Amino acid sequence: MSKIVKSKALNITSMLNEDRVFPPSQEFAKSAHIKSLQQYKKLYRESIQSPEEFWSKQAHSELLWFKPWKKTLQWKTPDAKWFVGGKLNVTTNCLDRHLDTGTANKAAIIWEGEPATDGKPGEERVLTYRQLHREVCLFANVLKKHGAQKGDRVLIYLPMVPEAAIAMLACARIGAVHSVVFGGFSAQSVADRIFDCKAKVVITADGGYRRGSVVPLKKNVDDALVLEGPRGDRLAASVERVLVLKRCGNEIQMHEGRDLWWHEELATVSPQCPAEHMDSEAPLFILYTSGSTGKPKGIAHSTAGYLLFTKMTTRYVFDLQDNDVFWCTADVGWVTGHSYVVYGPLANGATSLMYEGAPNWPEPDRFWRIVDKHRVSILYTAPTAIRAFMKWGDEWPKKHDLSSLRLLGTVGEPINPEAWIWYHNVIGGKRCPIVDTWWQTETGGIMITPLPGATPTKPGSATLPFFGIHPEIVDEEGKAVPRNVGGKLVIRKPWPSMLRGIWGDPQRFRDVYWTEVKGSYFTGDGCRQDKDGYFWIVGRIDDVLNVAGHRIGTAEIESALVSNSKVAEAAVVGRPDDLKGQAIVAFVTLKGAIKAEPAIRNELRNHVAKEIGPIAKPDDIRFAEALPKTRSGKIMRRLLKQIAAGNEIIGDTTTLEDFNVLAHLSKNDE
Ligand code: WTA
Repeated sequence: MSKIVKSKALNITSMLNEDRVFPPSQEFAKSAHIKSLQQYKKLYRESIQSPEEFWSKQAHSELLWFKPWKKTLQWKTPDAKWFVGGKLNVTTNCLDRHLDTGTANKAAIIWEGEPATDGKPGEERVLTYRQLHREVCLFANVLKKHGAQKGDRVLIYLPMVPEAAIAMLACARIGAVHSVVFGGFSAQSVADRIFDCKAKVVITADGGYRRGSVVPLKKNVDDALVLEGPRGDRLAASVERVLVLKRCGNEIQMHEGRDLWWHEELATVSPQCPAEHMDSEAPLFILYTSGSTGKPKGIAHSTAGYLLFTKMTTRYVFDLQDNDVFWCTADVGWVTGHSYVVYGPLANGATSLMYEGAPNWPEPDRFWRIVDKHRVSILYTAPTAIRAFMKWGDEWPKKHDLSSLRLLGTVGEPINPEAWIWYHNVIGGKRCPIVDTWWQTETGGIMITPLPGATPTKPGSATLPFFGIHPEIVDEEGKAVPRNVGGKLVIRKPWPSMLRGIWGDPQRFRDVYWTEVKGSYFTGDGCRQDKDGYFWIVGRIDDVLNVAGHRIGTAEIESALVSNSKVAEAAVVGRPDDLKGQAIVAFVTLKGAIKAEPAIRNELRNHVAKEIGPIAKPDDIRFAEALPKTRSGKIMRRLLKQIAAGNEIIGDTTTLEDFNVLAHLSKNDE
């Protein structure tokens, strides 16, 4: 039975065709941290009714403090301070505290390498908590030796190797603020980020393996360091040192006085490195993410609140037990990798699996081979990957023993019920609960999610809020809408791991998140709550695309396109895509005499890859003589979306500047 629900005010449509419910099995619930819906509801009610009491109790029992805090929450919209006056260090909580327990010799990180270019099975490394602690202290001393101090920014541009986690933790050890940039971003993106946060040190590798070829990371950094901004000044002028990990052995250039090898530097320092005493509110990291305007936003996260929330969500959402092997497949370049490959699992003394490469290299069973080999018990991945696995066929997972799995998770975009059911049946053998977790770079940790021993799940719904999280769905006026009506998803109350701002831009922080709905945090997502109060995320309602689980701003791609000398104007929209969720479609008008030829299409795609990175390459480029605009000059994106999706054009077009343009665009399929 399917019914379409439409909110008139916002035009948010959502399908109501899913009525299957999967209650937790008794067996799972029996040994889970949270064993019933009643238990969840009771704790949730407490967390909302007396948030400060709730969080204060948690912070006491979960974290190690050098100095206790004085005030649990100081809140003046939109600025939150949690555990004010307290001092702690993230690495004492993730590493040192485990050293005089049985966890000391437990695997902290199990790393599986991308199969080398010859397609042979990957290398493997295991770091126990004791070993990881040593590596972090050594590298922290290397950072110090090269001038990195408390508060300095360090840019990390590494492949998925244990050193990525080591570098992040080493920064946290000395109080430097890390900013990890995903290895798929271009030299230009690296330079822009360095410019924005004024990084003093860059940590990179000679190269990283990706599907059997080498990504030239160091070369990209070299290029980034000489790029100039619009005023002719070097974007990366703040960088004093580049520390280089040897990974692929590819040929690179080392600049005397600036570049140093990681392994050579390690030999020069001591393994003793006391942890800096950091304020609860000291920034732990900055992570850049796309917004609806051109420039990526540097999302800033704090020390204590972030750590507490990622620790708790990891334990309760994944029902973490002592002997679990936890595999979150995200790259550390994204927030999911920060919170659920590194900080959350390590704070809990868990074993976190890290994989360097692609899911289908050398063959489409790579993930299942890893699950089998390392007896992975919890798998956390993205719907786009699940849809790809479905397409590649059941024979690949069927070749392997997946019986070690006991819990599955998804994140990054709404999961279509068909993919949910496939994941449940084929990967989970019908016995594993699935946690569909909704959250964002800005929220730091999981916000809306089932608790696997407690919450009956419905395929496609992220279900109910985590403790202390107060989401609501509102209309244009910011008023709560009734059940089953679509609206904007907001968070009404502050929570410990909320972003503390956009780096260097407090005004933009207010504008983007706190003005749309007064007094509340605006997520940018559309949503609906069903009769049981379950949340169904519809997707972004601003101009941000979600391509294969990655947020990409349309404005960012547009400005990359118009920076090509042939392009006069560009408009970018999303089109639904079976595999990636959304595909990128660019409408481009070329300058004066330039003819639209297929070769230009390639040139522009490559240009976008150079400006932003391969993940932002448009799937389709359509040339147009002019773009449809309203009288006030606004590009009519709604129309372009319909055209891109191949729909007939519906709706009012009378405000179009040029009807011919529209007719031409719909026919122009070349
Ligand atoms: C989307 C990733 C539906 C959403 C952690 C959000 C989801 C954006 C889900 C954040 C989910 C994430 N169901 N949509 N379970 N999880 N999203 O910052 O649109 O890369 O706003 O953080 O992804 O993406 P980000």
